[in-house]
Amino acid sequence: MADNYTLSGSNSTDGTELPHVEPTLGTPAVDVRGLNQTAGVFTFDPAFTATCSCESDITFIDGANGQLLYRGYPIDQLAANASHLEVSYLLINGELPSRTQMDQFRESITHHTMLNTSLMNFFDSFHYDAHPMAMMTGIVGSLAAFYHDTTDIHDPEHRETFAHRMIAKIPTIAAAAYKHSVGQPIMSPRNNLGYTSNLLRMMFAVPAEDYEVDPVASKALEVLFMLHADHEQNASTSTVRMAGSTGANPYAALSTGIAALWGPAHGGANEAVLNMLNEIGDASNVPEYIEKAKDKNDPFKLMGFGHRVYKNFDPRALVIRDYCHQVLDHYNNQGNERLFDLARELERVALEDDYFVERALYPNVDFYSGIIYAALGIPTNMFTPMFAIARTVGWSAHWMEMMNDPGTRIARPRQVYTGYTQRDYVPTDKR
Ligand code: SDX
Repeated sequence: MADNYTLSGSNSTDGTELPHVEPTLGTPAVDVRGLNQTAGVFTFDPAFTATCSCESDITFIDGANGQLLYRGYPIDQLAANASHLEVSYLLINGELPSRTQMDQFRESITHHTMLNTSLMNFFDSFHYDAHPMAMMTGIVGSLAAFYHDTTDIHDPEHRETFAHRMIAKIPTIAAAAYKHSVGQPIMSPRNNLGYTSNLLRMMFAVPAEDYEVDPVASKALEVLFMLHADHEQNASTSTVRMAGSTGANPYAALSTGIAALWGPAHGGANEAVLNMLNEIGDASNVPEYIEKAKDKNDPFKLMGFGHRVYKNFDPRALVIRDYCHQVLDHYNNQGNERLFDLARELERVALEDDYFVERALYPNVDFYSGIIYAALGIPTNMFTPMFAIARTVGWSAHWMEMMNDPGTRIARPRQVYTGYTQRDYVPTDKR
């Protein structure tokens, strides 16, 4: 490994020596922080395809080999053996919890699940057909109004309380958004239920009758939430880091992550995949849609396919695809079986097509997740809120890691200016 990298080929930088940053795993980075001072140039990397914004210990992705590690543990081992709260503890604290630590963590989360009643009334101000992601963005941002004066972002204990509050309250907020959208009473959390069982009850129970949580459904959500909990510097996590780097209220910073996740190129893809599968309708239409996806003049993309980092199977998609069988067998839900069979056919045809193979476009985490959510009776517009519940852990962990770093500075990228050179004002009658 070179000690330094020497820039050559452009006259202003010939021979400029640049230090490098050595990772534990993965690709080394050239440290360009001094480049402007030493060589009078910037780096140019729109969409940050080859730019590291920080150092992080939380999650490692090997895109070429389809590997995902949370604090060094492979995602498939965690999905098979852990619980979502156990993985949450790991991502936040860096180590798997002892039994005592897990009991204390679960107790803390359980006793932060309720929302202030005036916040519950906030939902009434949304139109009945407001998208749940719009409601979640607003409600989470408004948590800053409740906890601003009592949150010292420089106090590690306050930072931990923020993370526990957010992990605990985000299912209550998501379920309340769903209840508002279907015109049913908002259900309060129950302290005698586990994390995902509480969510299912808050979504599907009604005051008029008892509700029995299906253990297959709560287990399915545990697996899906673990798989979605973190993914290094993805767009929404980078947004949370950017907002948090200004010293902004962490609840407000986290609401920017929800907004960023909503986009169909990011977490909104799971909703878009189900809409796409329903639009394709039948395996006989697959070739037509594959051609549409390849046509540069057609804006249609194969939703749930492709990834900025994975140029192999997204390991999460493999776990979810295998888990689909278990869930669909349990519910024997013909409609979702049909969708799953269609998704498998779409995957088969795409992965035999040179266009997808040459571009290393494989199914990502969003391709199969919606089929499980649909089998659990979760409506399509609640798929991305499910993603947001899980990714609240990663957003919180990255915000804490950034705020724990004394070297953190406000994030402020530069640009290549391509506008007018200086010119003088022109009076109106001369224009
Ligand atoms: C998530 O970053 C993360 O880690 C995100 C995430 C996480 O956990 O946080 O993993 C979650 O967001 C998963 C991605 C969900 N989005 C989708 O499924 C939407 C469909 N996918 C595409 O929009 C796209 O693949 C992206 C956004 C995922 C990646 O975009 P890139 O890296 O900018 O890739 P690109 O658009 O430059 O594509 C490279 C080529 C292009 O063709 P050429 O210009 O080379 O001819 O591949 C083509 C693209 O047109 N392409 C697709 C395609 N994805 C890329 N063509 C058809 N269908 C697609 N889905």
